[in-house]
Amino acid sequence: MLRVLVVAAALMLSAGEAFARRLGATPGLVDARRFLDLRKVLAGRFTELRAAAAGHAAGYSLTSWTGATPAEELGRVAGVFNAMNDAPREEGLFEDDIWDAGRVRDRGDMQVRFAGNRGYSVAAVHDATGEMAALTQLFVDPADPDWGHQGLTGVTRPHRGHRLGLLTKAAMLELAATAEPQLARVETNNAAANSYMIAVNEALGFELAEPGFQFFALPASRAG
Ligand SMILES: CC(C)(COP(=O)(O)OP(=O)(O)OC[C@H]1O[C@@H](n2cnc3c(N)ncnc32)[C@H](O)[C@@H]1OP(=O)(O)O)[C@@H](O)C(=O)NCCC(=O)NCCS
Repeated sequence: MLRVLVVAAALMLSAGEAFARRLGATPGLVDARRFLDLRKVLAGRFTELRAAAAGHAAGYSLTSWTGATPAEELGRVAGVFNAMNDAPREEGLFEDDIWDAGRVRDRGDMQVRFAGNRGYSVAAVHDATGEMAALTQLFVDPADPDWGHQGLTGVTRPHRGHRLGLLTKAAMLELAATAEPQLARVETNNAAANSYMIAVNEALGFELAEPGFQFFALPASRAG
């Protein structure tokens, strides 16, 4: 079956949104943007949040790396990438995005390998099984180093509910304070319906920054 669909996101109330609507594209989910102003965060706040999260995460250890995924982590990272299929999305338009070690090696880390960003990853590993239970990623564009760009955050299904999202993100922000001391703000986008991720982000101090992005889909071909 041939399925051809153009998907795109436009800032709400922008010319891009008007253009998409004019073309007859179908609106889908709204992605809310949030910014964290690091200059307003009290000293020690992320350490405090990490310690509070760690209280729910006995039996997990943190690990981190910079740049592209190390060869020995490719398979475990694929497991967390697969957990991203549980994020809210337009049902019926997308199939699950399935990753394995080879695909992470060939198609992962685009932000670092092709866009020239500096990349940071913090993962939580389940001590008893060695599984990677959680991963969060942050990128910094050397051309605009005041801003951090949140990449994915995922916790695999068996390990949810141990505050590993908060634990890894708080640890990431501590790491960033040392590795990227010039960072002033971090931006993140989440489906407005993603209450679990938004709760973590609000605990960290992220604030809503309107407008958000409206997702659109447009069939480019009716063949199939
Ligand atoms: C967002 C996410 C990382 C949070 O995971 P987490 O750190 O384990 O969540 P928490 O420990 O803060 O969970 C708080 C509560 O919500 C529940 N919960 C968390 N995520 C859930 C989910 N996707 N579905 C149902 N319940 C969920 C937990 O079980 C816990 O319940 P409890 O208070 O009764 O114990 C996780 O839901 C996830 O990986 N989702 C899919 C990927 C995604 O949406 N990523 C963000 C988009 S970039």
